Amino acid sequence: MKEKFKIIESQFRELGIEGDDVFTLIASEYIKYHNIEKSERLKKIGEKANSINCNGSKSKVEQILKKIISLEEQGSELSVFYQYFHSKRFRDNTGKFFTPRSIAQSMVSMLPIKSDAIIIDPTCGGGTFLLEALKKWGNTSCHLIGNDVDNYLVTLTELLLKIKKQSNHKLSFFNENIYSNNKIIAKYRGKVDYILANPPFSLTIENFNPKSKLLKLGFKNSDALFLDLAQDLLKEEGKLVCLLPHSIISNNEYVELRKTVESDWFINAIMVLPEGVFQETANTTTRADILVLKKKDKKNKQNKSNTLFCNISSIGNSINANNDLQAILEKQEVKKMLEIN
Ligand SMILES: C[S@@+](CC[C@H](N)C(=O)[O-])C[C@H]1O[C@@H](n2cnc3c(N)ncnc32)[C@H](O)[C@@H]1O
Repeated sequence: MKEKFKIIESQFRELGIEGDDVFTLIASEYIKYHNIEKSERLKKIGEKANSINCNGSKSKVEQILKKIISLEEQGSELSVFYQYFHSKRFRDNTGKFFTPRSIAQSMVSMLPIKSDAIIIDPTCGGGTFLLEALKKWGNTSCHLIGNDVDNYLVTLTELLLKIKKQSNHKLSFFNENIYSNNKIIAKYRGKVDYILANPPFSLTIENFNPKSKLLKLGFKNSDALFLDLAQDLLKEEGKLVCLLPHSIISNNEYVELRKTVESDWFINAIMVLPEGVFQETANTTTRADILVLKKKDKKNKQNKSNTLFCNISSIGNSINANNDLQAILEKQEVKKMLEIN
């Protein structure tokens, strides 16, 4: 795979075009090819592509772009192109990396399908989760909402989803800092059915909602506050399926957080992922768990539920490796517990 990207990179480099510009040209070609309805955000990609100096080799550039599209019409590799040609952005230490597809697929498979579901990824990056949700919902209607603090990533998500969308899929996109008072919270508070997320780990958050229970308990990091943010957005019995650092589950400093979670949520599952799951996409050994939480309704605050605890030893990210996570999700008793249909 890397070989293919290197060839494309050198073809563009021979014409004096590099980095961000290569991705912009490729993205713009997909927009034209699929005749995608252009939002302001997508229009800007076209404008930027038109302003790139092709050094007198416009027809050669067009040939390369046509070849790229003929090899992969559906744009499935767009987020890999993005990571490859925007490598500087991925080294800037703001927690930007894409969730490995096998994990995203398993997480989406934990959501019970229901029609007209409102599904949001508040830190959507390259749209990995929303794309999997769009595929899972197929002919069933849904409203998918993507947000990221990085506008270029919102553009990427918008493009990928618009290439694949069906007429029964409604799409909305935002470019907001999710941890500050913002349009998404104002618009969707208490209305969301499902949240899928891999939020940035362990950022210190300033100016969070002062009503947040966890903030009042002294938690100021993004991992903790993300849970209160999700409470705010979800409707009663709505579900959060997210990745969070393992420290939330294991460290003493989070005892009070865990008590709050038990009182506000049904803890459907805690799945401890193997070390190194983000090695390939993010070059980090940070340990992470998948949490599946269901927002309690007011009447059931006192009730408890069963929790699925599991240690996943492999997620099938190398040839011949088992995918334990998927194998667990295929068990009937697990499907029943997680209400997977
Ligand atoms: C670990 S990445 C995951 C991206 C995506 N969910 C995926 O798996 O492809 C975290 C994302 O959070 C975004 N992010 C960081 N701080 C944010 C904030 N305050 N508000 C919204 N998004 C933010 C980053 O730009 C990045 O795309």
